[in-house]
Amino acid sequence: MNGFGHRHLLDLDGYSRTDIEYVLDAAESMAEILDRQVPQVPALRGVKLANMFFESSTRTRISFELAAKALGAEVINFASAGSSLSKGESMVDTLATVAALGADMFVMRHARAGAPHLAARILDGPVINAGDGCHAHPSQGLLDALTIRRRFGSVDGLRVVIVGDIRHSRVARSNVLALGKLGAELVLCGPPQLVPGQLAAMPAVSIESDLDRAAAGADVLMGLRIQRERMSGPWLASTGEYVASYSIRRRHIESAGEGTILMHPGPQNTGVEIEPDLADSDRSVISEQVTAGLAVRMAVIYLLARNVLRVES
Ligand code: NCD
Repeated sequence: MNGFGHRHLLDLDGYSRTDIEYVLDAAESMAEILDRQVPQVPALRGVKLANMFFESSTRTRISFELAAKALGAEVINFASAGSSLSKGESMVDTLATVAALGADMFVMRHARAGAPHLAARILDGPVINAGDGCHAHPSQGLLDALTIRRRFGSVDGLRVVIVGDIRHSRVARSNVLALGKLGAELVLCGPPQLVPGQLAAMPAVSIESDLDRAAAGADVLMGLRIQRERMSGPWLASTGEYVASYSIRRRHIESAGEGTILMHPGPQNTGVEIEPDLADSDRSVISEQVTAGLAVRMAVIYLLARNVLRVES
Protein backbone atom coordinates (compact mmCIF):
# COMPACT_ATOMS: atom_id res chain seq x y z
CA MET A 1 0.00 0.00 0.00
CA ASN A 2 1.14 3.54 -0.68
CA GLY A 3 2.59 4.96 2.56
CA PHE A 4 2.96 8.47 1.23
CA GLY A 5 -0.17 10.61 1.26
CA HIS A 6 0.95 14.06 0.10
CA ARG A 7 -0.61 15.98 -2.80
CA HIS A 8 2.07 18.68 -3.00
CA LEU A 9 5.64 19.39 -2.00
CA LEU A 10 5.46 22.98 -0.76
CA ASP A 11 7.66 22.80 2.33
CA LEU A 12 9.09 20.06 4.52
CA ASP A 13 7.35 21.20 7.70
CA GLY A 14 4.38 18.95 6.91
CA TYR A 15 6.59 15.99 6.00
CA SER A 16 7.42 13.49 8.75
CA ARG A 17 10.67 11.59 9.08
CA THR A 18 8.87 8.57 7.56
CA ASP A 19 7.71 10.66 4.57
CA ILE A 20 11.22 11.96 3.99
CA GLU A 21 12.69 8.45 4.19
CA TYR A 22 9.98 7.22 1.82
CA VAL A 23 11.03 9.82 -0.77
CA LEU A 24 14.74 9.04 -0.30
CA ASP A 25 14.12 5.30 -0.71
CA ALA A 26 12.05 5.99 -3.84
CA ALA A 27 14.92 8.16 -5.10
CA GLU A 28 17.29 5.18 -4.82
CA SER A 29 14.91 3.15 -7.01
CA MET A 30 14.88 6.06 -9.47
CA ALA A 31 18.69 6.11 -9.45
CA GLU A 32 18.60 2.49 -10.66
CA ILE A 33 16.52 3.62 -13.65
CA LEU A 34 19.04 6.40 -14.34
CA ASP A 35 21.85 3.79 -14.38
CA ARG A 36 20.20 1.76 -17.15
CA GLN A 37 21.42 1.85 -20.71
CA VAL A 38 18.17 3.55 -21.67
CA PRO A 39 17.46 5.70 -18.60
CA GLN A 40 13.75 6.15 -19.15
CA VAL A 41 10.50 4.48 -18.09
CA PRO A 42 6.99 5.15 -19.41
CA ALA A 43 5.46 5.53 -15.90
CA LEU A 44 4.15 9.05 -16.55
CA ARG A 45 3.40 8.76 -20.26
CA GLY A 46 0.70 11.29 -21.17
CA VAL A 47 1.33 13.45 -18.08
CA LYS A 48 2.27 17.08 -18.75
CA LEU A 49 4.50 18.75 -16.20
CA ALA A 50 4.82 22.54 -16.32
CA ASN A 51 8.15 23.94 -15.17
CA MET A 52 7.10 27.45 -14.05
CA PHE A 53 10.22 29.48 -13.34
CA PHE A 54 9.35 33.04 -12.38
CA GLU A 55 12.93 33.37 -11.08
CA SER A 56 16.31 32.32 -12.52
CA SER A 57 17.59 28.79 -12.22
CA THR A 58 20.07 26.43 -13.85
CA ARG A 59 20.40 23.10 -12.03
CA THR A 60 16.97 23.02 -10.42
CA ARG A 61 15.10 23.77 -13.65
CA ILE A 62 17.15 21.42 -15.78
CA SER A 63 16.99 18.59 -13.27
CA PHE A 64 13.21 18.83 -12.92
CA GLU A 65 12.95 18.73 -16.69
CA LEU A 66 15.25 15.73 -17.04
CA ALA A 67 13.55 13.98 -14.11
CA ALA A 68 10.10 14.37 -15.69
CA LYS A 69 11.38 13.19 -19.07
CA ALA A 70 13.08 10.14 -17.51
CA LEU A 71 9.60 9.19 -16.25
CA GLY A 72 8.12 9.60 -19.72
CA ALA A 73 6.23 12.84 -18.97
CA GLU A 74 5.99 15.78 -21.33
CA VAL A 75 7.52 19.04 -20.09
CA ILE A 76 6.27 22.58 -20.66
CA ASN A 77 9.00 25.10 -19.83
CA PHE A 78 7.92 28.55 -18.74
CA ALA A 79 10.42 31.32 -17.95
CA SER A 80 9.41 34.86 -17.00
CA ALA A 81 11.72 36.44 -19.56
CA GLY A 82 9.98 36.52 -22.92
CA SER A 83 6.55 35.67 -21.41
CA SER A 84 3.34 37.73 -21.20
CA LEU A 85 4.33 38.76 -17.65
CA SER A 86 6.14 41.60 -19.41
CA LYS A 87 2.73 42.64 -20.83
CA GLY A 88 1.30 42.83 -17.33
CA GLU A 89 -0.23 39.36 -17.01
CA SER A 90 -0.39 38.21 -13.39
CA MET A 91 1.16 35.07 -11.94
CA VAL A 92 -2.31 33.62 -11.29
CA ASP A 93 -3.47 34.21 -14.87
CA THR A 94 -0.21 32.76 -16.17
CA LEU A 95 -0.74 29.59 -14.15
CA ALA A 96 -4.39 29.36 -15.22
CA THR A 97 -3.34 29.69 -18.86
CA VAL A 98 -0.82 26.88 -18.61
CA ALA A 99 -3.38 24.71 -16.78
CA ALA A 100 -5.93 25.43 -19.55
CA LEU A 101 -3.34 24.26 -22.06
CA GLY A 102 -3.38 20.89 -20.34
CA ALA A 103 -0.63 20.93 -17.69
CA ASP A 104 -1.31 18.23 -15.07
CA MET A 105 1.31 19.16 -12.50
CA PHE A 106 3.47 22.16 -11.72
CA VAL A 107 7.01 22.85 -10.57
CA MET A 108 7.24 26.43 -9.45
CA ARG A 109 9.96 28.89 -8.46
CA HIS A 110 9.07 32.43 -7.45
CA ALA A 111 10.78 35.34 -5.71
CA ARG A 112 7.84 35.70 -3.32
CA ALA A 113 7.55 33.44 -0.31
CA GLY A 114 4.23 31.60 -0.39
CA ALA A 115 3.65 31.87 -4.17
CA PRO A 116 3.60 28.04 -4.65
CA HIS A 117 1.12 27.75 -1.74
CA LEU A 118 -1.21 30.13 -3.56
CA ALA A 119 -0.73 28.12 -6.77
CA ALA A 120 -1.64 24.93 -4.91
CA ARG A 121 -4.93 26.51 -3.82
CA ILE A 122 -6.00 27.50 -7.32
CA LEU A 123 -4.70 24.58 -9.38
CA ASP A 124 -6.06 21.02 -9.44
CA GLY A 125 -2.75 19.24 -9.94
CA PRO A 126 0.23 18.72 -7.65
CA VAL A 127 2.53 21.69 -7.04
CA ILE A 128 6.22 21.27 -6.26
CA ASN A 129 7.98 24.26 -4.74
CA ALA A 130 11.32 24.76 -6.49
CA GLY A 131 12.20 27.72 -4.27
CA ASP A 132 10.01 30.57 -2.97
CA GLY A 133 11.77 33.73 -1.83
CA CYS A 134 13.71 33.22 1.40
CA HIS A 135 11.24 30.57 2.53
CA ALA A 136 11.64 27.00 1.30
CA HIS A 137 13.40 24.82 -1.24
CA PRO A 138 12.21 21.37 -0.20
CA SER A 139 13.63 19.32 -3.08
CA GLN A 140 17.06 20.79 -2.27
CA GLY A 141 16.68 19.72 1.38
CA LEU A 142 15.78 16.23 0.21
CA LEU A 143 18.64 15.94 -2.28
CA ASP A 144 21.12 17.15 0.31
CA ALA A 145 19.77 14.55 2.74
CA LEU A 146 20.18 11.84 0.08
CA THR A 147 23.76 12.96 -0.68
CA ILE A 148 24.65 12.80 3.03
CA ARG A 149 22.87 9.47 3.57
CA ARG A 150 24.74 7.96 0.62
CA ARG A 151 28.10 9.06 2.07
CA PHE A 152 27.52 8.16 5.73
CA GLY A 153 24.83 5.46 5.52
CA SER A 154 22.60 7.51 7.83
CA VAL A 155 22.04 11.14 8.77
CA ASP A 156 21.37 10.29 12.43
CA GLY A 157 23.80 11.90 14.86
CA LEU A 158 25.90 13.72 12.23
CA ARG A 159 27.14 17.24 12.90
CA VAL A 160 26.15 19.39 9.92
CA VAL A 161 27.48 22.94 9.82
CA ILE A 162 25.76 25.39 7.43
CA VAL A 163 27.89 28.44 6.75
CA GLY A 164 26.95 31.77 5.19
CA ASP A 165 23.90 33.91 4.52
CA ILE A 166 21.39 31.81 6.43
CA ARG A 167 18.89 34.67 6.71
CA HIS A 168 18.16 34.86 2.99
CA SER A 169 18.51 31.15 2.32
CA ARG A 170 15.55 28.92 1.56
CA VAL A 171 18.11 26.11 1.20
CA ALA A 172 19.19 26.54 4.84
CA ARG A 173 15.62 26.37 6.11
CA SER A 174 14.76 23.27 4.11
CA ASN A 175 18.01 21.61 5.14
CA VAL A 176 17.35 22.33 8.80
CA LEU A 177 13.94 20.67 8.43
CA ALA A 178 15.08 17.67 6.38
CA LEU A 179 18.30 16.92 8.24
CA GLY A 180 16.84 17.78 11.65
CA LYS A 181 13.97 15.31 11.15
CA LEU A 182 16.51 12.66 10.12
CA GLY A 183 18.39 13.13 13.40
CA ALA A 184 21.29 15.46 12.52
CA GLU A 185 22.73 18.04 14.87
CA LEU A 186 22.72 21.37 13.00
CA VAL A 187 25.05 24.29 13.53
CA LEU A 188 24.35 27.59 11.77
CA CYS A 189 27.39 29.77 11.24
CA GLY A 190 27.71 33.19 9.64
CA PRO A 191 27.89 36.91 10.33
CA PRO A 192 25.46 37.37 13.27
CA GLN A 193 23.20 39.72 11.28
CA LEU A 194 22.77 36.99 8.64
CA VAL A 195 21.82 34.21 11.07
CA PRO A 196 18.24 34.63 12.32
CA GLY A 197 17.85 33.59 15.94
CA GLN A 198 14.43 31.97 15.49
CA LEU A 199 15.92 29.04 13.57
CA ALA A 200 17.90 28.12 16.67
CA ALA A 201 14.60 27.60 18.50
CA MET A 202 14.19 24.37 16.56
CA PRO A 203 15.34 21.16 18.25
CA ALA A 204 18.98 20.17 17.62
CA VAL A 205 19.86 23.53 16.04
CA SER A 206 22.50 25.87 17.45
CA ILE A 207 24.29 29.01 16.32
CA GLU A 208 28.06 29.50 16.39
CA SER A 209 29.42 32.66 14.78
CA ASP A 210 33.08 31.56 14.83
CA LEU A 211 33.82 29.28 11.88
CA ASP A 212 36.80 27.52 13.49
CA ARG A 213 34.71 26.57 16.51
CA ALA A 214 31.69 25.62 14.36
CA ALA A 215 33.78 23.41 12.07
CA ALA A 216 35.44 21.44 14.89
CA GLY A 217 34.13 17.88 14.70
CA ALA A 218 31.87 18.58 11.72
CA ASP A 219 30.87 15.69 9.46
CA VAL A 220 29.46 18.06 6.84
CA LEU A 221 30.42 21.65 6.02
CA MET A 222 27.92 23.33 3.73
CA GLY A 223 28.60 26.72 2.16
CA LEU A 224 25.80 29.07 1.08
CA ARG A 225 25.90 31.95 -1.36
CA ILE A 226 25.58 35.54 -0.17
CA GLN A 227 22.20 36.28 -1.73
CA ARG A 228 22.57 39.98 -2.49
CA GLU A 229 19.50 40.01 -4.73
CA ARG A 230 17.37 39.21 -1.66
CA MET A 231 18.98 41.75 0.65
CA SER A 232 16.81 44.76 1.36
CA GLY A 233 19.67 46.89 2.72
CA PRO A 234 23.35 46.90 3.66
CA TRP A 235 23.37 43.53 5.41
CA LEU A 236 27.04 42.96 4.68
CA ALA A 237 29.81 45.57 4.82
CA SER A 238 32.10 43.94 2.26
CA THR A 239 32.70 40.65 0.54
CA GLY A 240 36.36 40.84 1.63
CA GLU A 241 35.40 40.89 5.30
CA TYR A 242 33.06 37.96 4.74
CA VAL A 243 35.78 35.94 3.02
CA ALA A 244 38.26 36.65 5.83
CA SER A 245 35.93 35.20 8.49
CA TYR A 246 33.56 32.78 6.74
CA SER A 247 35.17 31.32 3.63
CA ILE A 248 35.40 27.55 4.17
CA ARG A 249 39.08 26.59 3.93
CA ARG A 250 41.01 23.36 3.60
CA ARG A 251 42.14 23.66 7.22
CA HIS A 252 38.50 23.65 8.39
CA ILE A 253 37.77 20.43 6.52
CA GLU A 254 41.03 18.73 7.45
CA SER A 255 40.88 19.60 11.12
CA ALA A 256 37.22 18.56 11.32
CA GLY A 257 37.89 14.93 10.43
CA GLU A 258 39.09 12.45 7.82
CA GLY A 259 35.62 11.78 6.46
CA THR A 260 34.31 15.36 6.59
CA ILE A 261 32.64 16.41 3.36
CA LEU A 262 32.06 19.76 1.70
CA MET A 263 28.68 20.70 0.20
CA HIS A 264 27.24 23.70 -1.63
CA PRO A 265 23.82 23.92 -3.33
CA GLY A 266 25.18 26.14 -6.10
CA PRO A 267 25.45 28.58 -7.69
CA GLN A 268 28.83 29.35 -6.15
CA ASN A 269 30.62 32.66 -6.09
CA THR A 270 34.07 31.30 -6.77
CA GLY A 271 36.52 32.06 -3.97
CA VAL A 272 33.89 33.60 -1.67
CA GLU A 273 31.98 30.85 0.14
CA ILE A 274 34.71 28.26 -0.38
CA GLU A 275 38.48 28.67 -0.79
CA PRO A 276 39.52 28.34 -4.46
CA ASP A 277 40.20 24.72 -5.55
CA LEU A 278 38.62 23.18 -2.43
CA ALA A 279 35.27 22.90 -4.23
CA ASP A 280 36.97 20.63 -6.79
CA SER A 281 38.89 18.55 -4.22
CA ASP A 282 38.15 14.98 -3.15
CA ARG A 283 36.34 16.31 -0.04
CA SER A 284 33.73 18.01 -2.19
CA VAL A 285 30.43 16.23 -2.96
CA ILE A 286 29.00 19.17 -4.91
CA SER A 287 28.60 17.21 -8.12
CA GLU A 288 27.08 14.29 -6.14
CA GLN A 289 24.46 16.75 -4.89
CA VAL A 290 23.55 17.65 -8.47
CA THR A 291 23.28 13.96 -9.44
CA ALA A 292 21.21 13.13 -6.35
CA GLY A 293 18.87 15.97 -7.37
CA LEU A 294 17.82 14.13 -10.48
CA ALA A 295 16.81 10.96 -8.60
CA VAL A 296 15.09 12.89 -5.81
CA ARG A 297 13.07 14.98 -8.28
CA MET A 298 12.02 11.86 -10.18
CA ALA A 299 10.82 10.38 -6.89
CA VAL A 300 8.88 13.50 -5.89
CA ILE A 301 7.26 13.88 -9.31
CA TYR A 302 6.35 10.20 -9.46
CA LEU A 303 4.95 9.94 -5.91
CA LEU A 304 2.78 13.06 -6.25
CA ALA A 305 1.54 12.03 -9.70
CA ARG A 306 0.65 8.61 -8.32
CA ASN A 307 -1.33 10.13 -5.45
CA VAL A 308 -3.11 12.93 -7.29
CA LEU A 309 -3.26 12.00 -10.95
CA ARG A 310 -3.81 8.31 -10.17
CA VAL A 311 -1.26 7.09 -12.69
CA GLU A 312 -0.73 3.32 -12.54
CA SER A 313 2.12 2.23 -10.23
C1 NCD B 1 19.70 27.93 -4.53
C2 NCD B 1 18.38 28.61 -4.70
O1 NCD B 1 18.02 29.04 -5.78
O2 NCD B 1 17.71 28.67 -3.69
N1 NCD B 1 20.19 27.23 -5.59
C3 NCD B 1 19.66 26.02 -5.96
O3 NCD B 1 18.50 25.88 -6.21
N2 NCD B 1 20.52 24.99 -6.03
C4 NCD B 1 20.69 28.71 -3.77
C5 NCD B 1 21.06 30.09 -4.21
O4 NCD B 1 20.40 30.74 -4.99
O5 NCD B 1 22.09 30.55 -3.69
